[in-house]
Amino acid sequence: MVRAKTWILKKHFEGYPTHSNFELKTTELPALKNGELLLEALFLTVDPYMRVAAKKMKEGEKMMGQQVARVVESKNSAFPVGTTVVASSGWTTHCISDGTGLETLPAEWPDTLPLSLALGAVGMTGLTAYFGLLDICGVKGGETVMVNAAAGAVGAVVGQIAKLKGCTVVGAAGSDDKVAYIKKLGFDVAFNYKTIASLEETLKKASPDGYDCYFDNVGGEFSNVVIPQMKKFGRIAICGAISTYNSTRPLPPGPPAEIVIYQELRMEGFIVSRWQGAVRQKALKDLLTWVSEHSCRKTALTPKTGICTPEEEAQGISSQKMLLDTPIPTDSWTMRTSPQRVTDLYT
Ligand SMILES: NC(=O)c1ccc[n+]([C@@H]2O[C@H](COP(=O)([O-])OP(=O)(O)OC[C@H]3O[C@@H](n4cnc5c(N)ncnc54)[C@H](OP(=O)(O)O)[C@@H]3O)[C@@H](O)[C@H]2O)c1
Repeated sequence: MVRAKTWILKKHFEGYPTHSNFELKTTELPALKNGELLLEALFLTVDPYMRVAAKKMKEGEKMMGQQVARVVESKNSAFPVGTTVVASSGWTTHCISDGTGLETLPAEWPDTLPLSLALGAVGMTGLTAYFGLLDICGVKGGETVMVNAAAGAVGAVVGQIAKLKGCTVVGAAGSDDKVAYIKKLGFDVAFNYKTIASLEETLKKASPDGYDCYFDNVGGEFSNVVIPQMKKFGRIAICGAISTYNSTRPLPPGPPAEIVIYQELRMEGFIVSRWQGAVRQKALKDLLTWVSEHSCRKTALTPKTGICTPEEEAQGISSQKMLLDTPIPTDSWTMRTSPQRVTDLYT
């Protein structure tokens, strides 16, 4: 009998998520029926988007999210024991699946490449960067791209794809270490938005002619400063609005309509799950190639060993993606190692 440990959304968030929003439950899973398989999580991911997406959940439901999992028992010939998959199984150590929605890793996945990247640069966040920049912004070589939360899982890949396409990239990040990191990744200009005197002046100095594309992860007041600096016919991908996710106050107004009208800007929100089938598979192959060839060097985070405490879950949801390294070999659900941002896995 397999016991699954699962985090439940106990209570909807008000402001920042806290311990009291979550509950850990243990359930005994039944024996497999024909066509079913048992998944054991290898890596879970905790992402800022969940802060918003959880609004649609009911209290008492399992927390959502993807995981890299291994098939440990199978009565489904399409997924033999030992197969590694990406599954939307939520925050749980084990679950039973009939195979629906499971995604195997690309056949070309090198043995040397960490499986955790299937939740990062060669997974959901990499795909978000890829489609947001290439489809929504429709970026072209020679253009200037602005991206915020630029050292994050999405932003760092945005910057690197933009460089691969021959663009000039300007990135904003929230610490000097992060600024050094994205410069190392190839960003042309990087600044610490928390220590500059004026965002407006910094952006003007970084690109006096303005910006062709703005990949927005942050929203709020930050965007109200960037958008007036867009070039005519500029394109804006509204990917996220992390500056507003935990706010309990009214949100700041958006950019003045006359700027959008007279600069003839195009702004589009998107959700990465829009792109499925062949285009998604091509994108994953492109990302895998770039990461394998080290032309895209991002790894989001070093995985953490063990499963995190509710406080850490809350931190991952509120402000920063985290990867959790499972399975959990003991009943201790506390972290055994601290999260650590790596500068570059591949050098
Ligand atoms: N549309 C989609 O399909 C989709 C998919 C995935 C993610 N997203 C969105 O993409 C964005 C980035 O996600 P990610 O996975 O890259 O996250 P991440 O790796 O966790 O990075 C998030 C970063 O955002 C910055 N941040 C946090 N709170 C902030 C605040 N109040 N104001 C300004 N910056 C703040 C922090 O960096 P600094 O220290 O640099 O401030 C943080 O490290 C999020 O908004 C997320 O919701 C959208």
